[in-house]
Amino acid sequence: MIYPMVKILAISFAFTLAIGSLLSHEDLLLPYGAISRIFPELVEPLKDIDTCSKYTCKTETQKFTSETCGYFNPEDQVIYSKPCKNSADTCFTTQLLSNRTCSNNPPVEISLPGDECSDLGNCYWDSSISCKKGRCQGDGLGKTCTSSLQCNPGASCQSIDGVMQCAPLIGIGETGCLEQYDCTYNGGCNISSTNDPTKNTCIKYGSLASGTEISEETCTVNSNVCSSTKCAKNNEGKFLCTGPIVSNGQIPVQCTYAYNSTAGCESKVDTSTGAEIYTICNCAWNKNGDSYCGLQPGDSPQAALLTEIQNWQNSAAIEKCHTYWRNPTFVNSKIQCAYEYYGSKPYSILLYRYIYAIMYVAAFNSEDCVLNTFFPYYLKAEENYNNGGNTDNASLVALATSFILISF
Ligand SMILES: *[C@@H]1O[C@H](CO)[C@@H](O)[C@H](O)[C@H]1NC(C)=O
Ligand SMILES: *[C@@H]1O[C@H](CO)[C@@H](O)[C@H](O)[C@H]1NC(C)=O
Ligand SMILES: *[C@@H]1O[C@H](CO)[C@@H](O)[C@H](O)[C@H]1NC(C)=O
Ligand SMILES: *[C@@H]1O[C@H](CO)[C@@H](O)[C@H](O)[C@H]1NC(C)=O
Repeated sequence: MIYPMVKILAISFAFTLAIGSLLSHEDLLLPYGAISRIFPELVEPLKDIDTCSKYTCKTETQKFTSETCGYFNPEDQVIYSKPCKNSADTCFTTQLLSNRTCSNNPPVEISLPGDECSDLGNCYWDSSISCKKGRCQGDGLGKTCTSSLQCNPGASCQSIDGVMQCAPLIGIGETGCLEQYDCTYNGGCNISSTNDPTKNTCIKYGSLASGTEISEETCTVNSNVCSSTKCAKNNEGKFLCTGPIVSNGQIPVQCTYAYNSTAGCESKVDTSTGAEIYTICNCAWNKNGDSYCGLQPGDSPQAALLTEIQNWQNSAAIEKCHTYWRNPTFVNSKIQCAYEYYGSKPYSILLYRYIYAIMYVAAFNSEDCVLNTFFPYYLKAEENYNNGGNTDNASLVALATSFILISF
């Protein structure tokens, strides 16, 4: 599948869908290729394509015009690539089987209370959130609200004595949540009632062992309270946390590419619930046009990422961030706040583990020239990780803000 094709559209759609998904509390881990599920209407034209494109480096004898970053050779059906001169540019096409050109498309950013902003008014929500002194100012504790999007870092919109108001996030073991964003940054909500918060308790993410029973609602929207991050219905109809969910074979597991296909991409069977979890078969950006199954949550790159996310969630720095920015793998989340407050070394580890996990399949056996052309942040994040977080600030800011929307 040729993802860059959807980039422009994806960006314009991302804004509305991002908020939609925040509001519907989706918290699925985002494997590479999830775009097909998040923006199905955008990949509709790709349905008939059943092979992966092949990518390699520009040869010495090929002559590219200055804005060409990918040359599609109709003879061998290979895309020859050359990184854009301006590292902020992205390389994409709006047509399949065609050349790709460099262009500058800064991602549309959603800025919530506590985030940096400009006078251009990029603070989300309504007039109550304004940009003051370079930061979006939300509502303080006790102010009435209709959404947590309005509340400042450290707070969410909760019903207190029957009035919706911005209130401090709820501690682990305490009642009062309706969704995970009501709990402290390191916890989700065990939802027994969808309208009576006094029946629901905040539970630490990743704390429930395999076989622990949770409610159906929690299983659907907050299974990240399970140590495996997954839960499933067993044959008695109970919703239980699964054991670690891993790929059925050495990663990445090869599969036969077809649009949205999960064939051959089932996990090992989970012994406590009998569940198998499927991922989608994705294209790798390499010269063979290989395709591999998306990673499972217990596969090593995802497990290493989860550890770093939990470190971030348990840090003091995260308290400066909006409750929606607690996990960069949530749909349309972003990592900017961690860049600002976490410290360069821990941030470099979190960023690298994130990019490594989401790009694991896409970057498998890719040549550096291809990565530097289509995913310039990938090798940058690796370099920053290897040098302990000392890559220059300018490129890190770009990384923190840009890669999520480009990583389709
Ligand atoms: C694609 O790029 C190559 C190299 O720059 C150029 O020769 C060719 O005409 C381009 N093809 C199209 C269809 O634009
Ligand atoms: C979560 O809530 C369900 C339903 O009320 C309850 O059965 C279960 O024991 C709770 N789990 C934990 C770990 O508190
Ligand atoms: C893709 O597959 C998922 C899961 O199998 C399915 O729910 C979805 O409807 C499919 N989307 C399209 C556009 O085929
Ligand atoms: C890089 O960012 C850090 C943290 O924001 C700041 O302290 C430092 O002065 C910056 N360095 C440069 C060269 O801008």
